[in-house]
Amino acid sequence: MSLRGNWSYPTAIRFGAGRISEIAEACKAAGISRPLLVTDRGLAGMDITKSTLDLIEAAGLGRGFFHEVDPNPTDRNAEEGVRAYRDGGYDGVIAFGGGSGLDLAKVIAFMAGQTRPLWDFEDIGDWWTRADANAIAPIVAVPTTAGTGSEVGRASVITNSETHTKKIIFHPKMLPAVVICDPELTVGMPKFLTAGTGLDAFAHCVEAYSSPHYHPMSQGIALEGMRLVKEYLPRAYADGTDLEARAQMMSAAAMGATAFQKGLGAIHALSHPIGAVYGTHHGTTNAVCMPAVLDLNAPAIAERFGHAAAYLGIDGGFDGFREFVQSFNDSFGIPRRLGELGVGTDRIDELTAMALQDPSCGGNPVELTGDNVKALFEACI
Ligand SMILES: [Fe+2]
Repeated sequence: MSLRGNWSYPTAIRFGAGRISEIAEACKAAGISRPLLVTDRGLAGMDITKSTLDLIEAAGLGRGFFHEVDPNPTDRNAEEGVRAYRDGGYDGVIAFGGGSGLDLAKVIAFMAGQTRPLWDFEDIGDWWTRADANAIAPIVAVPTTAGTGSEVGRASVITNSETHTKKIIFHPKMLPAVVICDPELTVGMPKFLTAGTGLDAFAHCVEAYSSPHYHPMSQGIALEGMRLVKEYLPRAYADGTDLEARAQMMSAAAMGATAFQKGLGAIHALSHPIGAVYGTHHGTTNAVCMPAVLDLNAPAIAERFGHAAAYLGIDGGFDGFREFVQSFNDSFGIPRRLGELGVGTDRIDELTAMALQDPSCGGNPVELTGDNVKALFEACI
């Protein structure tokens, strides 16, 4: 089976090994003649980044490059990026990288032509309608990890550098116009990132599948996404050059983010404040939190995960799935407690207050309260 295709859902996706060679065509398809490539500092000096810049330059599209992006991107990164975009006279953004690079790139494209400040567009009610939609720059997205799925998402997570809180910036036009999913770009990912990002994709599928909101399309996508992670993450982890496994994980990542239009839940509600306060890796943090969240949600999701377990070839219904999750984490060397990631118990009250403010709370199948969230933090740390 050739793992290659052109898909139009949820946006135009060119999927297949080697398709980064189509970057200039993708820019043209998105109406971009002078792109600013945005990525994070870690990727800035890597070969995949340089060769992509070479392709753009060779096609006569310039060599616009911005890489002042923190692992948990901030409003300051966004400000600098928007300045670089405006000063350079660009007409679109290439969002290149993992979650950090993609999220910040999308915000730069979004803010490029806005006059109001960034936090006016937080994902609250209909605040997104405050934006001048015509002033949003087009985006071509190129993921280099397989986890975030931000390449098919309409939002970015940005850290407020004053309050150290993670906020979601949302607008429908932040969805990239064209995506290139080239699994060869993920071949060089180190093991801990392969695991952490892959388990983020898994968390997206699990939380979307758990969410009580009505969205049967997402439900189906989440279920198949879980299967792909279960089958292929161990292979990608064992052998980073296994291109079939890398491709299937890249699909799973896009599927997780497509599915979570249905909602996220307590895993992300906990993970966002922990990441904002302690700077931990997002996907790894999610993985540590998942078993305790499954325990909390068990009464609401046991039946539906019975069906999922059967589909995934896991015996024992929900309990079997819960056991599988723990042993899956263990197989990738994921710590069992957040304490091992440097998270202390001294700020639990603050973390609890932040978690309850997180928009992910709305998709959790059991209502989140001060008591159960605090208990979750205690169990996870
Ligand atoms: Fe996530």
